[in-house]
Amino acid sequence: MRKLILIALALGMIGMVLIPVLAEAEEGEAAGHAYIGVKRCGMCHKGDKNGNILETWEAGPHAKAYATLASEEAKAAYTEMGKEGNPQEDPACLKCHVTGHGADAALTGKLDMANGISCEACHGAGGDYWKKNIMEDREQSIANGMVAAPKEHCVSCHNEESPTFKGFEVEEYYSKIIHSLPEGE
Ligand code: HEC
Ligand code: HEC
Ligand code: HEC
Ligand code: HEC
Repeated sequence: MRKLILIALALGMIGMVLIPVLAEAEEGEAAGHAYIGVKRCGMCHKGDKNGNILETWEAGPHAKAYATLASEEAKAAYTEMGKEGNPQEDPACLKCHVTGHGADAALTGKLDMANGISCEACHGAGGDYWKKNIMEDREQSIANGMVAAPKEHCVSCHNEESPTFKGFEVEEYYSKIIHSLPEGE
């Protein structure tokens, strides 16, 4: 009996050492997916047959989020904040107006700032889930970095830190950018 207790104690101690190590490895992996850029996602998610998802994004507000930073409105907001310079070069603006801002440079090489807020800003960096055999399996996609519930993350940008913030209601806003796979899929 006493032997069993000692073994249990020893296992417990190994567990205490191992669990934090494992948790760290998982976090590292989650942060380690490379971005592939909207063109790659669009290869499969465009056209009538596929629900025109690329086209819907192109026509929507997020595709022009970087261009917006060059507008008169952006300059006005900028001046009002007491700032000088170019909003398109200011990390304080870019953090919500381009995809992957602040991520490790080794992971963002395929991104073009001109594409503003693209697929991967909401669905997660696609370097490890974009392949067809993984994409067809929802669980595999999630295990490889796909964000399963992107609506929960809208408020990471749609919040009062935005100098032009006018409020945010998730369903109302989502209805303006809604995109979906074709019926029956
Ligand atoms: C090689 C083709 C291909 C590429 C490239 C691709 N996808 Fe997909 N994607 C698919 C297929 C196929 C499905 C599954 C459709 C179905 O279930 O009928 C899918 C499903 C999805 C889903 C729905 C998952 C779910 O079940 O909720 C999302 C979101 C998605 N893709 C986003 C992306 C993003 C973002 C990119 C780029 C990073 C991308 N895809 C690149 C083929 C692709
Ligand atoms: C990474 C930052 C980011 C995330 C995440 C994000 N957005 Fe946005 N969103 C923006 C920016 C920046 C703009 C302004 C684009 C512009 O006007 O150039 C915008 C604009 C919009 C607009 C247009 C608003 C208007 O006044 O015309 C809608 C609608 C919208 N977003 C919906 C959503 C929804 C729904 C989600 C979550 C599923 C979401 N956004 C997630 C950054 C983000
Ligand atoms: C916390 C995220 C965030 C930051 C930081 C941010 N923005 Fe935005 N920006 C948004 C979102 C979200 C929108 C969409 C409209 C809204 O709700 O404000 C937006 C919209 C805009 C618009 C369009 C206004 C409109 O009514 O459509 C301009 C111009 C703009 N931002 C300029 C800037 C400038 C300049 C900076 C840097 C000083 C900046 N933003 C920093 C999130 C942000
Ligand atoms: C602003 C955030 C945002 C951007 C940008 C965005 N999506 Fe989505 N996407 C969403 C949300 C939110 C949903 C709905 C998820 C849900 O139903 O919970 C969704 C759903 C999807 C689905 C699943 C649709 C279905 O019928 O199940 C696919 C596929 C998809 N997106 C692909 C893309 C691709 C490809 C791009 C880029 C061209 C893109 N998305 C850009 C937020 C975004």
